[in-house]
Amino acid sequence: MARGLSKAEATSGVRRLQLFFGSAFLLSAVAGVYLLATDASLWLLALSHAVGLVVIVVIDVVIGTLNFLSRKKLYLPSLAAAFLGFLLQLGDVLTAPQYNMTMQYFASYLFGLWAFDLLLALQFAIIFVGVAGRGYVRELARRQKTQRARELGYSRRGFLKAIAVFGGLIGIAVAAGSVKLPPPSPPSSQTSQSSQTSQSLQASQASKTLQSTRPSGAIANTNNLQVGSPVYFDYPKGYPNILLKSADGALTAVSMLCTHVCCECTYEPSNKVIFCACHGSVFDATGKVLRGPAGTPLPSITLTVDTSGYIYPTGVNGSGPCVH
Ligand code: FES
Repeated sequence: MARGLSKAEATSGVRRLQLFFGSAFLLSAVAGVYLLATDASLWLLALSHAVGLVVIVVIDVVIGTLNFLSRKKLYLPSLAAAFLGFLLQLGDVLTAPQYNMTMQYFASYLFGLWAFDLLLALQFAIIFVGVAGRGYVRELARRQKTQRARELGYSRRGFLKAIAVFGGLIGIAVAAGSVKLPPPSPPSSQTSQSSQTSQSLQASQASKTLQSTRPSGAIANTNNLQVGSPVYFDYPKGYPNILLKSADGALTAVSMLCTHVCCECTYEPSNKVIFCACHGSVFDATGKVLRGPAGTPLPSITLTVDTSGYIYPTGVNGSGPCVH
C-alpha cells in the first residue's frame, strides 16, 4: 500500500483512520463508564482495577477526541493506548487468585459482561485497523519531510515512548488503588448487639472472660452464644464466616464470601439475612439463596462442640467460585 499512494490518498487514509480511532475510543470509554457505574464489585472487591479502568476511560476520551480533531501525532499513541488497554483488560483474568476466585470462573464472569466484551473488541479493532492502515501514515511521513512529517511521530521509539507514558499513568493509578487503608473496626463477635441492657452487659463480661480462656481453635462457647448475635470467624485462615444460633438452639455457620463473585457479605440482624452489596444477592441464615444473581448457596462450615460447650470449625461443605 505504501509506495504508489498519492499524497492526497495518504492524507485521506490517515483521516479515515483517525475517524475510526476517535469513534472506537469514545465508544470504548462509554463501555468503561458503564462497567464502572453498574458493577459495584469493581469498587468493593477490586478497587485497584476500578481506578485503573478510570484512567483507561480518561485516556480513551482524550485520545478519541484528539483523533476527531485530526491531531496526526496521535497515530502511535492511539495504537499504544489500545494495545495497553486490551492487554490490561485481558490480564484481569490472571488476578483471580487475588480475589479468592478460580481463574476459570473469573474469566466466565468477565466475558459474560457485554460491556467488558465490547471494550475488548473495540481496543482490538483499533489495533487491527491501525496496523492494517499503517501504510497511509508511513507514506505521509515519507512524503512530508517537514515539521509536519515529524508531527506524525512515526517511529518505533515513538510507539515505545507512548507505551511507557500510558503504562506509567495506569500503573500509578493501580498502585494508588492497591493501598490498603486500615479496616473499620469489625463487629465485636458475640457482644455486637448487646450494649443497652444490664443483662446484655453481663453477657458481654461473660463473653470477654470466655474469650480470654478460650481453647485454641475454638470460635465461641454455646453457653455464651446468644440468639441474634453473630460470631465472625476466619476458617480456613483468611476466609470469613459467620456463626449464628437460632431460637431452637441450633448452630449454623456459613461462609461470608458470596458465591457470585466472592465479595464479602454482611449480616443484617433486623431481617436475619446475609446480603452482598456487590450485586445485591441475598441469602438466608443457612446460606440458601433468596435472591440472585448468586446461583449457589453459601458453603457451610462443619462444627463440633466439646463437653465444655466450646465450638470448633472442622470443615467446609459445598463449593463455589471462592477457592478454599
Ligand atoms: S458478588 Fe455479585 S452478588 Fe455477591
